[in-house]
Amino acid sequence: MVLINNSTAAKEPIEVSPRGNLNARLVHFNTLYTDSPAKTIHVVREAVREADNVSQKVTPLVRIRNLGDDGVEYEVKYWLEDYAKYNDTDALVRQRIWYAFRRAGLNFAFPTRTLHIERRAKHDGLESDGGAIVERLSAVDLFAPLSPEETTMLARAAVSHVFAPGETVIRAGDPGSSMFVVHNGRVRVQINENGRPRTIATLNEGDFFGEMALFTGEPRTANVIALEETEVLEIGHAAMKSVFDTNPDLVESLSFIMAERRQGLAAQADATAPTDESEGILSAIKRFFGLT
Ligand code: CMP
Repeated sequence: MVLINNSTAAKEPIEVSPRGNLNARLVHFNTLYTDSPAKTIHVVREAVREADNVSQKVTPLVRIRNLGDDGVEYEVKYWLEDYAKYNDTDALVRQRIWYAFRRAGLNFAFPTRTLHIERRAKHDGLESDGGAIVERLSAVDLFAPLSPEETTMLARAAVSHVFAPGETVIRAGDPGSSMFVVHNGRVRVQINENGRPRTIATLNEGDFFGEMALFTGEPRTANVIALEETEVLEIGHAAMKSVFDTNPDLVESLSFIMAERRQGLAAQADATAPTDESEGILSAIKRFFGLT
């Protein structure tokens, strides 16, 4: 016997589920997209109709309610003998579905995502590929005497860096053990004159810088600053040494360029760079790289 007070009876809907009355329940499950709906529906219907407290008078209904992100979503509608046991009966229906799936080789769907993995390039999108780097180095005058194999070796050893306009690539006074080739963009070479910055050269695509510290072991002689978005190729000591070993002439042409640049530095009032002749630079490079 259930007692309901008047105020509740007047206000709220009352659902009456008399014993023997067939009340329906819905239970949900998912399958993989690879499982056939016809097979799934048949297997689940047969499994559920056998379960205790599922009415034999009405055949359970199994239907697709959604083609979801995580698989095909089904609902099974069945009718209860004894409504009071709906919790236990729902649980039993789920259990029967699990065993039926197992026997029939059907699969519950779980959240799945198809991931397309992108292979990481050596450099980010702004930077150039290997072919373009070989092409750039081949066009640098200094490297003209190198064989194609040597240029390719240098390109492999080169590391690409991208600088924003105004960013400092090299800072005067820092130690340095690599040189740079301007691959894309432009840089300015700047020194301090009476405490004020002064541009002494602008270097364009195919020009190189940073050779002085690399080849003599002295600190960087100037600031080098990107004028626009600039990609530079950094070449280290080891790669240059192997190129020097097989191309002694390279040291000589390099020493001429460095002598010229040193004069450019020395011509500035505040510059402290010594006015070495190329001969002196040549022997400094040879000493530093242990060349005879
Ligand atoms: P490094 O001294 O290693 O670092 C600063 C670089 O600026 C230097 O090497 C040269 O590559 C470059 N540089 C210095 N003076 C000049 C110049 N007069 N003209 C062009 N480049 C220069």
